[in-house]
Amino acid sequence: MNTSSESLLSHIVQADRVHRDAYTSEALFEQEQRRFFAATWNFVAHASQLPESGDYVTLDLAGRPLLVVRQADAGIGVFYNRCAHKGTKLYTNERGHAGRVLQCGYHAWSYRLDGSTMGIPLRQEYAQSSLSQCQAGRGLSRVGAVAVHRDFIFVRLDEQGMGFEEYFGASLQWLDNMADRSPTGKLTVAGGIVRSTIRCNWKMYLENINDTIHPVSTHESAGKAAKIIWSHQPEGQEMPLSMEQMLPFASGYDFFSRMDAELYPHGHSALAVNFSTHTGYAYPQPYLDALAQAHGLGHAEQVLARAPQNSVLYPSIAVKGAPLVMRVIRPLAVDRTLVEAWSLRAEGAPDLLHERAMTYNRLVFSPMSIVAHDDIHLFESVQQGLKAQGNEWVSLHRGSAPGHEEVTEPTPCKGTSEQLMRNQFQAWARFMGSAQEI
Ligand code: FES
Ligand SMILES: [Fe+2]
Repeated sequence: MNTSSESLLSHIVQADRVHRDAYTSEALFEQEQRRFFAATWNFVAHASQLPESGDYVTLDLAGRPLLVVRQADAGIGVFYNRCAHKGTKLYTNERGHAGRVLQCGYHAWSYRLDGSTMGIPLRQEYAQSSLSQCQAGRGLSRVGAVAVHRDFIFVRLDEQGMGFEEYFGASLQWLDNMADRSPTGKLTVAGGIVRSTIRCNWKMYLENINDTIHPVSTHESAGKAAKIIWSHQPEGQEMPLSMEQMLPFASGYDFFSRMDAELYPHGHSALAVNFSTHTGYAYPQPYLDALAQAHGLGHAEQVLARAPQNSVLYPSIAVKGAPLVMRVIRPLAVDRTLVEAWSLRAEGAPDLLHERAMTYNRLVFSPMSIVAHDDIHLFESVQQGLKAQGNEWVSLHRGSAPGHEEVTEPTPCKGTSEQLMRNQFQAWARFMGSAQEI
């Protein structure tokens, strides 16, 4: 298959529709893993998970095992989690503390925190060998590039490629918006990470994050149930967090049609910047005062007023600033996707905010959610339905008009437009074509 961007654009991604192969082709999935996820910037960890020198986090990104390590100088190093000797993963647990040395459990080769080789048992037996001229003698391999923004750690696997600032551009404001909900500007990952494996292609999940039309039908039963229960409560009763979060799901098309969106180059977006289901959240006065004192009243008000439904930092995370939650999307196979729901704690903010994050994840994203199972059922249904004969295309026509092209600067659009999804696919095709072969 010709994999140039132009070819993909015309054969898989068209102006207002996408060929089903984008979701179902094993060959394209393999190329995505190798090319797309190497050329794009992807989230790997949050710095609060690695407070001390020697702390580490492991993960798999596009089939590559990675090791994120807090360095002796407090910086962040990201290596392939692969011993330079024979390839053993240095660490297999999700998180841990290595101390001052990274050591392989197989033949005890050891490395400094910066990845350089420290010790090799029976080193004298290598004296006549060419080990030092070989990759094996050079220590751990690093990923192409690392960038940290407000403690969110991202990597680009490719050595060469687009810089971090250019890649994310104005979409980084949504990480700032989240961090600025703390009077000290600091977030920590807290409350556990809830994981679901869904039998669908990863792109479906990311598209749905920007789909304002589906809640009315998909989540009708959850929204209605909340509405009925709340209508039977005595008047004047304080609204519990679960109601605050569930009642907006009972809204109709008119509600969602009033939402706007901002598109950014390279697939990123913010949905419902003007108002969202999170706009009505109440905050205790002492927190508002602390935020105003820390950031200035104007900025503090703006931070809380801008509470998008979702901000996608394509293709690995979607954040919700107001409830302080984040989803991390990890493709596992062409038809299998790992979705992680993270909750964050804003330093110096009352426990209520963290409770809100935990409640949101439990109610809306977790495997025992009364919302997520509706979505998961449909994603899996789409994955199966796309095998049908007669129509090989997925429609992205809503809100399209002749002349709509890939955005080159922050661009407003209607929240109900499928332009948010078209923007993702245009970025997908571009990076599929531009990656280095590795
Ligand atoms: S594979 Fe790691 S020391 Fe041998
Ligand atoms: Fe949904």
